[in-house]
Amino acid sequence: MKQQAILNVDVEQGKINKNIYGHFAEHLGRCIYEGIWVGEDSPIPNTNGIRNDVVEALKNINIPVLRWPGGCFADEYHWKDGVGPREERKRMVNTHWGGVVENNHFGTHEFMMLCEMLECEPYICGNVGSGTVQEMSEWVEYMTFKGESPMANWRRENGQEEPWKLTYFGVGNENWGCGGNMRPEYYSDLYRRYQTYVRNYDGNKIYKIAGGANVDDYNWTEVLMRESARYMDGLSLHYYTVPGEFWTGKGAATGFPEDEWFVTMKKALHMDTLIRKHGTIMDKYDPEKRIGMIIDEWGTWFDVEPGTNPGFLYQQNTIRDALVAGLHFHIFHDHCDRVQMTNIAQTVNVLQSMILTEGEKMIFTPTYHVFEMYKVHHDAKRVALDTKATDYKFNGETLPQVSLTASKNEEGTVHVSICNIDHENDAEVNIDIRGLAISNANVSGRILTADKMDAHNSFEHGENVKPVEFNAFSVEEEGLNVKLPPMSVVVLAMN
Ligand code: AHR
Repeated sequence: MKQQAILNVDVEQGKINKNIYGHFAEHLGRCIYEGIWVGEDSPIPNTNGIRNDVVEALKNINIPVLRWPGGCFADEYHWKDGVGPREERKRMVNTHWGGVVENNHFGTHEFMMLCEMLECEPYICGNVGSGTVQEMSEWVEYMTFKGESPMANWRRENGQEEPWKLTYFGVGNENWGCGGNMRPEYYSDLYRRYQTYVRNYDGNKIYKIAGGANVDDYNWTEVLMRESARYMDGLSLHYYTVPGEFWTGKGAATGFPEDEWFVTMKKALHMDTLIRKHGTIMDKYDPEKRIGMIIDEWGTWFDVEPGTNPGFLYQQNTIRDALVAGLHFHIFHDHCDRVQMTNIAQTVNVLQSMILTEGEKMIFTPTYHVFEMYKVHHDAKRVALDTKATDYKFNGETLPQVSLTASKNEEGTVHVSICNIDHENDAEVNIDIRGLAISNANVSGRILTADKMDAHNSFEHGENVKPVEFNAFSVEEEGLNVKLPPMSVVVLAMN
């Protein structure tokens, strides 16, 4: 049955902050080391130690913001260990992630250099769990103070004359768990205290982000908003899409059964409920929506690839992940009045990555391709699109078969993105377009799809899943008819 949508391009519904397409890179497994940092002496082509291929790939998706150094790692990271001559830097144990030696070769200077190469904003997460107020305060001074001061002088000694522009700063990570196992009342007080010393020097204006709730811990949001709202610019939220159970078996990234496809879609769609419910609490204390909801960890989390270090969280990435990414973006667009930034976990070689590397080889995941296709929505105006989707049925349960979103850029081009999450059936969508005259000539499209639920790219076959031109649409009297194959993500451009 044909599903109906009404697109009204004259009805603008807020701006889609490009930071919704943000990223996260932690000192975890092979994300920073190998995935990004290979060192200046590496045979892998690099610029000052940073992989050229990865930088180029991330620039191609217009990466807007990058969160670092964690995650759980952030609350045991002592930034002073990661500056100064590399050979003299302290070696520590990364107790959270695999118990491996962390040589601190990638520190503040290297991260800021990476952001400069990527032309993206840095988002640094400070240590509340095991660090002091002084340590956090001095880090900000080190990075952003221009004049004469102990930390600014030290930065200059270490080769960076000018202060960096630091845009986003997180005061701790998951402080209800790996960041200190705190109660919200206690963390809220600590947040107020630590953030006091995250100072704005020399015109640098830091957007302060408080550590937010885990999934549906609404009490955490309530307490943080009630006690500390006036001290924050953003409040975070973490939610991962896990088909199984965290501790007993999350499910495999490839070779999974049909029911795991369905439940993955269902759990991805749960993000909408979480945003609504946390958002309602935020609205109570911040009806003007001054405070951004910052979903700084999201994405799929499966069992690690067989034979890999369980602490490295390395997983393959399939067309299923691409659909999960698409659904999330549609939900984030729907809530673009509150959701100001999100950071998928994680950029390279960890969880739902954009990029996988093996030595000098690099491949793009299906998720990467969705980020690339959707960059047309960055900073665009969300426009009204009402969808009446038919049911995607499985084992007595139903989900909406399609999900749509639309935006209009500065040139007036309208982009409509559509996901067909059904693993078996085509979807036909009729879009009644108001406020824009269309013909077959001014509509173009691209599609990402596959004929197997776990289709993915490998180091041997890096182009199994990649976007191609899409033209299964026609302009009819009743609007634009689009026919999507199962398991597909389509982006249409109209002008
Ligand atoms: O992204 C992996 C981990 O997931 C992060 O370190 C932590 O914040 C979360 O639990």
